Amino acid sequence: MIKSITVDAGKCIHCGKCIRDCIVNCIEFDADRIPRYVEGGENICVGCQHCMAICPKGALSFGGKNPDDSDAAAYGNSDDLLRLMKSRRSVRFFKKQDVPPDKLNKLVDMLAFPPKGGNVDSLHFSIVGTADKMRAIEKLTYDTIRAIDKGSPVIEFCRDNYNKGIDFIYRGAPSMVAVSVDKSKAIAGCENADPIIALSYLELYAQSLGLGTLWTDAALSVANELPEVKAMLEIPDGYDLNYIMLLGVPAVKYSRTVQREPANVKII
Ligand SMILES: Cc1cc2nc3c(=O)[nH]c(=O)nc-3n(C[C@H](O)[C@H](O)[C@H](O)COP(=O)(O)O)c2cc1C
Repeated sequence: MIKSITVDAGKCIHCGKCIRDCIVNCIEFDADRIPRYVEGGENICVGCQHCMAICPKGALSFGGKNPDDSDAAAYGNSDDLLRLMKSRRSVRFFKKQDVPPDKLNKLVDMLAFPPKGGNVDSLHFSIVGTADKMRAIEKLTYDTIRAIDKGSPVIEFCRDNYNKGIDFIYRGAPSMVAVSVDKSKAIAGCENADPIIALSYLELYAQSLGLGTLWTDAALSVANELPEVKAMLEIPDGYDLNYIMLLGVPAVKYSRTVQREPANVKII
């Protein structure tokens, strides 16, 4: 990431919003009340781009980016968003087709936007993009499980289900997303939150694209227990697998939302 700020002095109205909104106070006015980095500002700047996002005149550029290339900020319709959240379901039946590439690309583009502690990008996403590759992982998984005499409770549970014709691990999904984290890069305390936030964003956006997802503890446990399976995820050195989500075109349709009991909340 290139850390720099440049200001179009002709557009700047000297409102100071960029200075006030900076989380690390790395911006100040120069003698002409034009924003600039403080001495050494590029070393403390976290690159969150709040300065560019908040500028009412599009006068400030971060990292050489043109503010006019940003989308206008929008927060959508809250009723639609709530309906999406309530309609999202764990999908356990998938069509035998790959995720359409245009939808996969949209998901990939979106993954740049979930928040990360300190705006530090410590995540890696391994995306299995085709059903053929998924079935190869499935075959290796169950071949390996078959070769184990007696495995952990999860392994035994998955083996029993597979013997009954149920793939509890991959559910016939044509894709999956494995998120891993470089804990040496992540802000302390955020290393477990960042990956889950990213997958939560992915899950909702996927469902808005007509795709289905499944958080899967089973695939995670199996990958963590079977090194040959984890190796197929091509996780870079230094990164720890954090979570796995299945993805695909649903072969099941839900007609209505569920009706949950109220959450356990106390407003203090
Ligand atoms: C962290 C997490 C792990 C999960 N692991 C599995 C799993 O291994 N297998 C599975 O079939 N469902 C799994 N689920 C799905 C839950 O069972 C599901 O969210 C819950 O039953 C509610 O259904 P809904 O997601 O459709 O609202 C998991 C969900 C979460 C949030």
